[in-house]
Amino acid sequence: MKKRVYVGMAADIIHTGHLNIIQKAAELGEVTVGVLTDEAVASYKRLPYMCAEDRKRIIASIKGVSHVIFQSSLDYTENLRSIKPEYVVHGDDWKEGIQKNTRESVLRVLSEWGGELIEIPYTMGVSSTEFNHKINGSGTTPERRLSSLRRLLKVKPIVRFLEAHNGLTGSIVENTFIEIPGGVKSFDGIWGSSLTDSTARAKPDIEAVDIATRVQTLNDILEVTTKPIIFDGDTGGIVEHFVFTVKTLERLGISAVIIEDKTGLKKNSLFGVDVEQTQDNVVDFSAKIRAGKLAQATDDFMIIARIESLILDKGINDAIDRARAYIKAGADGIMIHSRKKDPAEIFEFCKKYNAFDDRKPLVVVPSSYRQVTEHELINCGANIVIYANQLLRSAYPSMRLTAESILRHERSFEAEESMMSINEILNLIPGTK
Ligand code: SPV
Ligand code: MG
Repeated sequence: MKKRVYVGMAADIIHTGHLNIIQKAAELGEVTVGVLTDEAVASYKRLPYMCAEDRKRIIASIKGVSHVIFQSSLDYTENLRSIKPEYVVHGDDWKEGIQKNTRESVLRVLSEWGGELIEIPYTMGVSSTEFNHKINGSGTTPERRLSSLRRLLKVKPIVRFLEAHNGLTGSIVENTFIEIPGGVKSFDGIWGSSLTDSTARAKPDIEAVDIATRVQTLNDILEVTTKPIIFDGDTGGIVEHFVFTVKTLERLGISAVIIEDKTGLKKNSLFGVDVEQTQDNVVDFSAKIRAGKLAQATDDFMIIARIESLILDKGINDAIDRARAYIKAGADGIMIHSRKKDPAEIFEFCKKYNAFDDRKPLVVVPSSYRQVTEHELINCGANIVIYANQLLRSAYPSMRLTAESILRHERSFEAEESMMSINEILNLIPGTK
């Protein structure tokens, strides 16, 4: 009887390295490839370009592959225990770094029945990581970017967004990552905040920065990023204007717009009732959602309704009633906002909201209840977390201190230690040289 051989792979960007591994595996016996599901890949790196079904089909058509199954986590244990292969074949590039633990667990499980790990030399000159850089370097398409938010929502326990207000902050959201056991952690997408876009222009957050100007900011961000963008659409303006905003955003490849149920002169929500703000009535706001949904051209674009009841001290029941009405009007998601330091009202809303039959993704913005962890947000059912203003809030104090230091010392020498070096800034943006 032929020996059983198991190969696990993401198989997103297929290259000769994969073929070498499969060929070697086929020499040893009958090959089963475990294709990592989108969830499994997204747990340790960015979402695959191709969906799991497509990746499975492609692998199944490669010579030497007898069976293809899904591997639903980074860990091989479940599939290995069910197949009990004599061999696992992998490239030898996982002995160090983020995959080291996975390798050790494979060795442990194989030893249960005397299976063997065969490691073949890494195929020089090809690596998915490098191809990834090239693909990211060549950008994305509006369609692919637009649909990526819905894909992320399907596979991640919580989708993590961070604010950007220009190309540079967009590139920080795009490229910042940290290594974690078994993979890397990064932001999933970019929040086009009205507060920070306005503040960066030294304008108040009152819809004074018009849509054409906001789109300029988006274009700067789009130019240097590939991740999905959620646009802060403020009140959405009047219905007759909102439908054009939806079309514009969709054409650009923005994944979602969030509009808040306020009317008249909008003020930032974090003021709460300290300033005069008027909540829209349910009928009119529902009509705006409905008109927006009719205006969009794709199935993927999302219109998310933001409820301001807690901001305006109208209570949980009002918020829940509105959530029900807005979903009925066609909203693809709900954002619940709060300006309290205590997350109790958010958690209470979540509990009631989670009981909806027609529940849609829930967005939360923990600016004031910032002590709450992502883990707690996942537990209360939040699907998207937006860090709405932190990049701008960290940049501004630092810039002001530098300006004061130059005034105080009548030279920039003293400020130098808190700045990046000239050499660093010259090399920060590829292509500057
Ligand atoms: C923004 O970032 O502009 C927002 C969130 O709308 S908040 O400032 O909290 O209202
Ligand atoms: Mg805003």
